[in-house]
Amino acid sequence: MRIILLGPPGAGKGTQAVMLSEHLKVAHISTGDILREELKKDSSLAKKARRFVESGGLVPDDIIIEVIKERISGLNDFLLDGFPRTIRQAQALDEALVNSRPIDLAIYLDASTPTIIQRLSGRRICSKCGANYHIKNMPPKAVGFCDKCGSILYQRPDDSEAPIKNRLAVYLKETASLIDYYQKQNKLLRISSDPDAGEVFKELIQALNSKVLK
Ligand code: AP5
Repeated sequence: MRIILLGPPGAGKGTQAVMLSEHLKVAHISTGDILREELKKDSSLAKKARRFVESGGLVPDDIIIEVIKERISGLNDFLLDGFPRTIRQAQALDEALVNSRPIDLAIYLDASTPTIIQRLSGRRICSKCGANYHIKNMPPKAVGFCDKCGSILYQRPDDSEAPIKNRLAVYLKETASLIDYYQKQNKLLRISSDPDAGEVFKELIQALNSKVLK
């Protein structure tokens, strides 16, 4: 399948994407993860993208569209997490797939603002393998260290107060209109992501099965 995960920052896209891509055995492509890897390497992409990522703004469409085209080229199935984020990106994706298969489904993870703030401010990431934790909701076994590889956990610079505010504003201004875009294509599946991650995943699989089997 070719799936898009939509939703505000902190809705749980990355968390669900890891579980869903394993369940469906499809490639998980996260533009946020790709950009953070590039920033670590200080690559030429990082030089163009850093100020946008760190302030919670959007990397310009032309840059990110090229990144995605390259990543999906040759893949039969994929799960896109964090792309598209603007109407222009969605149109570019549709155009890029015109000679192959279109997107099957856009899953919209809907979370309330208090949930989003609580999740983003408590999120911790593994500095080596990128595994995702939350100090209260999904704590690691040893405080400050990754369960999977033992490396130190850190807080994303854009999970501080000013960038969080900016990311929420950018989401409402640029990204929320994609809900309507995919609704009009009859591809939207809306799931509340306020419950805990296991519950959301169960709901997601049930909804996915009934939508696909319909
Ligand atoms: P990106 O990394 O995509 O950030 P985001 O969309 O703001 O999403 P997040 O990663 O913050 O949240 P999430 O929904 O994945 O939640 P998560 O599962 O981690 O992008 C970062 C930046 O890159 C952007 O700001 C932009 O600058 C740039 N960028 C990326 N894509 C771009 C594009 N297409 N165009 C232009 N620029 C782009 O969960 C959050 C926390 O909550 C975690 O701690 C988790 O453990 C916890 N949690 C998750 N689910 C649950 C649950 N159900 N119950 C309890 N806790 C939960």
